[in-house]
Amino acid sequence: MGMRDILFIVLSLQLVGLLQSQMIPKEIKKCRFGESQCIVDSMNVLIKKFPRGIPALGLKPIDVVDIRNSKFWNDEKVGAFWLQFDLFDQVNYGFENTTITKVNGFDENPTSSLIEIHGRIPSLIHKGNYLSQGRVWIVELNSTGESFSDFQNFRFVLKLKVIMEYRNNKRYLKIYKLTPFVNMDRWVFWLDNFFESNTDMSIAINHVFNQHWVEFWNELEPKNLKIFASVFRDIFEDVFEKVSYDDMFLPIAKESQRYPKGISDIGLPPLDTYYFPNSSILESPHSGPIWIDFRVRDNMFKGFNNATITQVEGFLREPNQKQIVLSARLPRILQEATYDMEGRFLLFAFNTTGRLSSDFQNIRITLTIKTLVEYRNGKRYLKIYSLKPTLDLDR
Ligand SMILES: *[C@@H]1O[C@H](CO)[C@@H](O)[C@H](O)[C@H]1NC(C)=O
Ligand SMILES: *[C@@H]1O[C@H](CO)[C@@H](O)[C@H](O)[C@H]1NC(C)=O
Ligand SMILES: *[C@@H]1O[C@H](CO)[C@@H](O)[C@H](O)[C@H]1NC(C)=O
Ligand SMILES: *[C@@H]1O[C@H](CO)[C@@H](O)[C@H](O)[C@H]1NC(C)=O
Ligand SMILES: *[C@@H]1O[C@H](CO)[C@@H](O)[C@H](O)[C@H]1NC(C)=O
Repeated sequence: MGMRDILFIVLSLQLVGLLQSQMIPKEIKKCRFGESQCIVDSMNVLIKKFPRGIPALGLKPIDVVDIRNSKFWNDEKVGAFWLQFDLFDQVNYGFENTTITKVNGFDENPTSSLIEIHGRIPSLIHKGNYLSQGRVWIVELNSTGESFSDFQNFRFVLKLKVIMEYRNNKRYLKIYKLTPFVNMDRWVFWLDNFFESNTDMSIAINHVFNQHWVEFWNELEPKNLKIFASVFRDIFEDVFEKVSYDDMFLPIAKESQRYPKGISDIGLPPLDTYYFPNSSILESPHSGPIWIDFRVRDNMFKGFNNATITQVEGFLREPNQKQIVLSARLPRILQEATYDMEGRFLLFAFNTTGRLSSDFQNIRITLTIKTLVEYRNGKRYLKIYSLKPTLDLDR
């Protein structure tokens, strides 16, 4: 009984491990929920190794990021000063050189906190075309040309509010709000050909823009932030759609290795060394010419903490509708115990006590479990009503 209980616990703890998807490339180390520094490091490896994206994961190329056309100013064409200014065919370069500096909130339950991603981009370049029409006193503007913008030492903080969606019993994040905060050392901005047919004046006005980039930025900040929000949203949204949140992290199931000494709060006994009390292996009525009792006590098993789950089935939302099947491999189980053997074989009575040790190597076990659901305090608890183990070992 003890053995199967413990196996069941070990196996169920590790089962999530199997549910993890194989899609995330091996180079990207998975982290535990909430392990911020590990998450920062993995994000940086992902950015460095896959600037062209990973389509299967919904990760788009980040070396060249398209952005939507945007209207910066759209004044009524009346009065002495008005400006209409559109950017189109915009492309961003430089996201591939992003360094993530800090993250927050990637917890097991990210909806309860705000997710934050902090990063730095040495040079974020926007290239595209612009169209500008306007009037400044008596000067009429009607120009189109190439625009170039370089945000130098660009720092950003993204705050994300997310909701959870469940699909196939997995949790997927959906962004419902993304707020960017940005900051930079300098904004270099250049519009070619701003005053058609007057190159000197075009150069002059560009110098004015660049000398006063702070004012210029302040005026454009709300608009720019909207653009950044949509760019960042585009980068994350498809990944969140394709890769479940649970698959992004190490399964909690590795708990059995994380807590070899058990967690008494949840009834998890120590797994590195497991004791279970007396068991009777053979028992017969003490009568007749041949009988034998064989009892084992003070059993000590070592090696359950090294179990690896190899297969699970049936952990559905309604677990009682289907049997649960768990398979695992245990590289080695060492058993130490004391045995008592009592009996009679024809004329000989024997009564001995001794030490017993066994070494089970490469054990493959499959448990077929039927459960009942019990309700306590409005929660569902599983009760095993039938458990059939099948066991196979190398020696
Ligand atoms: C990104 O970094 C590489 C290597 O430092 C550099 O060659 C490239 O120009 C950078 N890209 C941008 C857009 O700054
Ligand atoms: C600006 O130029 C375009 C073509 O280059 C022309 O169609 C448009 O009427 C001009 N607008 C103004 C306000 O002069
Ligand atoms: C196990 O057996 C020993 C000796 O036979 C006895 O003293 C002890 O109480 C038993 N323990 C349990 C849990 O049955
Ligand atoms: C479990 O794994 C650890 C680390 O690989 C090893 O040192 C230990 O001996 C293993 N336990 C058993 C019982 O094989
Ligand atoms: C065997 O030994 C135990 C204690 O050593 C004793 O209690 C028991 O009665 C003995 N059994 C027989 C069949 O002699």
